[in-house]
Amino acid sequence: MRAIVFEDAHNLALKEVDAPEPGANDVVLKVAAVGICGTDTHVFDGEFEGTVYPLIPGHEATGVVTAVGADVADIAVGDHVAINPSTTCGECEFCLNGRQNLCRSWNGLGVVASDGASAEYLSAPRANVFKLRPETDIHEAALIEPLACAIRGYDLLPRRMGETYLIYGAGTMGLLMAQLAPRAGAASVTVVDLNEGRLQAARDVGVENTYTKADDASRELGIEKWDVVIDCTGAIPAIEDALPRVKAGGTFQHFGVAPAEATAHYSPFRVYRDEINIVGTMAVLNTFGRAVAMFEAGAINPTPMISHSFTLDEYSSALEKFRAGTGRKLQIRPNDTESRVLLDI
Ligand SMILES: NC(=O)c1ccc[n+]([C@@H]2O[C@H](COP(=O)([O-])OP(=O)(O)OC[C@H]3O[C@@H](n4cnc5c(N)ncnc54)[C@H](O)[C@@H]3O)[C@@H](O)[C@H]2O)c1
Ligand SMILES: [Zn+2]
Ligand SMILES: [Zn+2]
Repeated sequence: MRAIVFEDAHNLALKEVDAPEPGANDVVLKVAAVGICGTDTHVFDGEFEGTVYPLIPGHEATGVVTAVGADVADIAVGDHVAINPSTTCGECEFCLNGRQNLCRSWNGLGVVASDGASAEYLSAPRANVFKLRPETDIHEAALIEPLACAIRGYDLLPRRMGETYLIYGAGTMGLLMAQLAPRAGAASVTVVDLNEGRLQAARDVGVENTYTKADDASRELGIEKWDVVIDCTGAIPAIEDALPRVKAGGTFQHFGVAPAEATAHYSPFRVYRDEINIVGTMAVLNTFGRAVAMFEAGAINPTPMISHSFTLDEYSSALEKFRAGTGRKLQIRPNDTESRVLLDI
C-alpha cells in the first residue's frame, strides 16, 4: 500500500509498504480521512516526546473495516469506524489509578511508536475502534478525535450554568470548545483570534462574539472578566493576556500545547487572592465514546470546520499549508485521487 513515512525528524517520503494484517484482536480499515493537526508538525519536527522513527503519521482517522482478527466478534467488514489513537500500558501507577492519559508509556498511533493513518490502510487494536452509524459522514467524522480531546477538557472544567466563557484561538480546538460551551451551561461565549479568517470560522459555527483583541470584547460586551478562560493557542502571549481576565473564583484552562521549554508570567498573588483555578487537560480519557455520541447527535457543526482535503501525494504541501494557517481543518484522504476545496472561503 502507499503510505507517508516520517523516516526521521524533518524527513518524509511517500512509499510503498506492506499493508497491515490484523493481529487476533485488531481491526484493519481502509482509511477515509485523517485530519492534520499541530501534533503532526511536532512529530515531523522531532519535538514530540518519545517518537520512534520510521513512523506513518496521522491520528485523527476514520475508515471502513476491511478485515478483523480472529478474536474480534463485534466489528465486521464494512463497518464505518472512528479510531481512538491512544494506547496505554495498563500497568503503571497512572493506568492503575484510572488516569490512563497520563500513562508513562503513553503511545499514540501515528504519534509515538505505532503507525498511523496517512496510508491506504490502518490497523488498530479492537479497543481503539468505535463504530459509526452508516449514515454519519465518514469524512467529517474524523473530527471525533479532536472532539474527544475537547470533551476531556470539559470533564475538567466546572460546567456551572450561566457562566461566561472566553476562548483564545479559533482553530479546530477553539471551535470545538466554543461549540460545546453552551452545552456546559455557558451564558455567553467569546472567541479571540489574531486571524480574521479563523474568526469567520467561529461565526460560521455559531459564535456571536468574535474579536481580534480581548480588550475590544471587554469594551463592546461590557465584560471585564470571565468565569472560564480557555487557551486554545499554546502561544505564550495569548496565555499571558488571558490569565488576568479570569474572574475571581474562576477557572483558566491550558488546552493549547505550549513549547515544552516555554514559561509564562502570571501573578501568584492574584491566583491566591482570587482563588483562581488553573487546570491542564491532556488528550482523551474515557471520552471517545461520548465524542461519537455527541458528534452523531449533532452537538457540533462539522461542515464549516473542514476546508480542504489532500491526497497522499500532497502530504508535504498540506503540512506546509497547515503551518501557514491556511484554511481550516485540513484532511488527508489517502484513497482519494484528487484534492478537494471543501469550503468557498
Ligand atoms: N490538550 C489537548 O488534549 C489538545 C488536543 C489537541 C490539540 N491541542 C492543542 O490545542 C492548540 C490548538 O489546536 P488547533 O488544532 O486548534 O490549532 P490551530 O493552529 O489550528 O489554532 C490555533 C489558533 O490560535 C490562534 N492564535 C495564535 N496565537 C494567538 C494569540 N496570541 N492570540 C489569539 N489567537 C492566537 C491562531 O491564529 C490559530 O487560529 C494547539 O496548541 C494544539 O497543540 C491540545
Ligand atoms: Zn490531533
Ligand atoms: Zn500506564
